[in-house]
Amino acid sequence: MKLDLFGPHFKADPYPTYAQLRDYEPICRRDAAGGKSIWFVTRYDDVSALLREPVHFVKDVRNTMTPAERAQLPPTPDLVGLLGNHMLNLDPPDHTRLRTLVNKAFTGAVVQRMAPRIQAIADGLLDRVQRRGRMNLIEEFAFPLPITVIAELLGVPARDRARFRHWSDAFVTPSVNVQRGAKKVLKMRRRMEDFTGYMRAIFNERRQTPRDDLITLLLQAEEAGDRLREDELFSMVILLMVAGHETVVNLIGNGVLALLHHPAQMALLRARPDLIESAVEEMVRFDGPVERATMRFAADDLMVGSHLFHRGDAVSLVLAAADRDPAHFTEPDQFDITRQPNRHLGFGQGIHYCLGGALARLEAKIALAALLQRLPGLRLATAAPLRWRGVPILRGLQQLPVAWEMSRTM
Ligand code: HEM
Repeated sequence: MKLDLFGPHFKADPYPTYAQLRDYEPICRRDAAGGKSIWFVTRYDDVSALLREPVHFVKDVRNTMTPAERAQLPPTPDLVGLLGNHMLNLDPPDHTRLRTLVNKAFTGAVVQRMAPRIQAIADGLLDRVQRRGRMNLIEEFAFPLPITVIAELLGVPARDRARFRHWSDAFVTPSVNVQRGAKKVLKMRRRMEDFTGYMRAIFNERRQTPRDDLITLLLQAEEAGDRLREDELFSMVILLMVAGHETVVNLIGNGVLALLHHPAQMALLRARPDLIESAVEEMVRFDGPVERATMRFAADDLMVGSHLFHRGDAVSLVLAAADRDPAHFTEPDQFDITRQPNRHLGFGQGIHYCLGGALARLEAKIALAALLQRLPGLRLATAAPLRWRGVPILRGLQQLPVAWEMSRTM
């Protein structure tokens, strides 16, 4: 079976393809861009086991190389070094050091204190559209909410969110851009330079006038000496910005779409708001924002099941396939907001388990509750097929036009 991982048809509904792979070729190798190939792993038990194997499956491909191979590597392009040296691309001990620097800011108790502010942002966005009776949910609600939250947490002006989106787009679609040629690569380079220039100005300002925000905290760690290099600082900020909104926008978008496609579940959630937490978990499982984990590389020649993975082989763990594995979930293709237990892999597992899990859950919970409370009769406002973004590992809609009953909102 051919895997067209970028095509619009695949993106519209990847689940039947993933089900076939899970049933017939649960560990398979497919050609990828640049003459390379990738192992795809689709069963829950295998995906879960490999996520928890940070020694044999590493994130930094250099850790699969011998010293002689490393010595022959071409120098890392400056922008890649400046923006790619973040925890999600690194292995211990660097991963541990970087994660420890920001861990405290994302614990459940700290995040919970942000609830009133998140509620105010959600209400402010709905105030703008409520009397209009319709909106593009992605553009006017699902995107501005998390980007404002993460911008405020970091300490960058939320009014610049259109620019963040531009930069973030370039960051999450590198392979697509490379395929489209040199002109696109150049454009992406310019965007990234624009981003680093923008951030440098903020860093300078914050060094002079420290504030109670994450950037100030990170700058203090950088100045303290051995804990954070300048490239790691830039990389951390872009990672938090991208991971902090690209995913939540899609959790809100995909989650609302699931409710619109399952009116009985929407009615149940309206009748029983206490199910909101369980509904959010089911949204992450059923059609989660991260379709496939970021790439891992085999550190040695290894047997996985009956397959020999060679040192350096790229491995893609398909979270979307694992989370619909019938060996783990009864009726996995059913969207059931009361599902218990629901140990999905949508936030990953192991040492790279999502740092922002508590924040993402809180944002989604507040956003969805506000939507349901304030927009009665919420419905899809288009008959045209919905279009999905062509971003390789993420899963999210380009647009989601919705409408509601105005008479009942006055
Ligand atoms: C629904 C929303 C979200 C989902 C589904 C999600 C999912 C994930 C997944 C699957 C991973 C692991 C990737 C891998 O192992 O290859 C991850 C890692 C990460 N996520 Fe999230 N995420 C979400 C929201 C957030 C938010 C709001 C933040 C906030 C800053 C965040 C920050 C991170 C970071 C920093 C990592 C890397 C952790 C590490 O390498 O140790 N995520 N996320």
